Amino acid sequence: LKTTQKIVLPPSADMHVHLRQGEMMKLVTPMIRRGGVDTVFVMPNLQPPIRTVERALEYKSELQAIEPNVNYLMSLYFHADLTPEIVANAAKAGVAGIKVYPQGVTTNSDAGVVSLDGFDAIFEAMQEHDLVLNLHGEVVGTPTDGLTHEEAFLPTLKSIHNKFPKLRIVLEHCSTAAAVEAVKSCGPSVGATITAHHLYLTGDMSNVDPHAFCKPIPKTPQDRDALIKAATSGDSKFFFGTDSAPHPLAAKSAQGKAPPAGVFTQPYATQLVVRAFEDATERGIIAESDVTQEKLEGFFSKFGRAFYKLADNSGSKIVLERKGEKIPTSIQGEGLEVGISRSGDEVFSLSWQ
Ligand code: NCD
Ligand code: DOR
Ligand code: ZN
Ligand code: ZN
Repeated sequence: LKTTQKIVLPPSADMHVHLRQGEMMKLVTPMIRRGGVDTVFVMPNLQPPIRTVERALEYKSELQAIEPNVNYLMSLYFHADLTPEIVANAAKAGVAGIKVYPQGVTTNSDAGVVSLDGFDAIFEAMQEHDLVLNLHGEVVGTPTDGLTHEEAFLPTLKSIHNKFPKLRIVLEHCSTAAAVEAVKSCGPSVGATITAHHLYLTGDMSNVDPHAFCKPIPKTPQDRDALIKAATSGDSKFFFGTDSAPHPLAAKSAQGKAPPAGVFTQPYATQLVVRAFEDATERGIIAESDVTQEKLEGFFSKFGRAFYKLADNSGSKIVLERKGEKIPTSIQGEGLEVGISRSGDEVFSLSWQ
């Protein structure tokens, strides 16, 4: 990578994005393609959350009106009033998944669930209608055994998988070595997204810098390196999902208040991952020869599309070239500014071909 000047790839598929609503939506949606991405799985944690098929389709057309050259996969917010009928209708309407938010754990999760017990009829219907279950895999409340919130959640992942082996499940934004192992130990119906930022942040950084603060909290250097290895392993269970989560600079920098969780990476989605792989080769975590064309294509594009049963994009390509480009501090919209992760750092420049 160090000596690589140019990389040509199929467009990336970013299987976990927050595109928000209102002015924020107008500001960040046009950034998707700048990050080399043509397909996104859109999170439903709006205010109020997206709980109906009708609202999901309406949201999709709002996004299409802003940027038509992106394929938007839509999701519903898992909530206590879900029924097998809603699941069936969602599948029929082309909704791709249902995202679980543990209550109170992250942004707009107040309407989420405290536990996943008692929802077997929903999981059964999702399995039958082939709808993906997207898990924010963190427990509610503080684990008593010194585990992280994510590690304490892993038995729940396994038990749902064991009961519903054909149900496609994505452990979103996995952040620990233990999660990587848990996903590997499950059957082919279970995959995981890996963000850009969990490939370069650790907990000590996330806890002091509001722009690096997110959920799940990035963990130890060993956890980060386990994610790097999973993302460059060629294992199709692990695919790209940035969890790019914009918050207004004003909210991120408000004094005397905990910042909202979320790292914004959308305009440099693909570039930031390449940079993280490059840094990892320099640290000796992976070898230059581990970062092959085939593995990059798999992680960024093929594996996520295959999991969601989409066709490969055979048309355009993205081109990454080393031109000394540095990430700017922020992007600005109507009365709105959003800080970008790793501002000031050098990345490949990206263009479409
Ligand atoms: C963190 C916490 O408690 O928020 N835990 C930890 O460092 N042991 C991160 C987490 O649980 O996700
Ligand atoms: O850091 C996060 N931000 N994690 C999430 O799960 C949600 C997201 C957001 O919506 O801001
Ligand atoms: Zn999440
Ligand atoms: Zn998210």
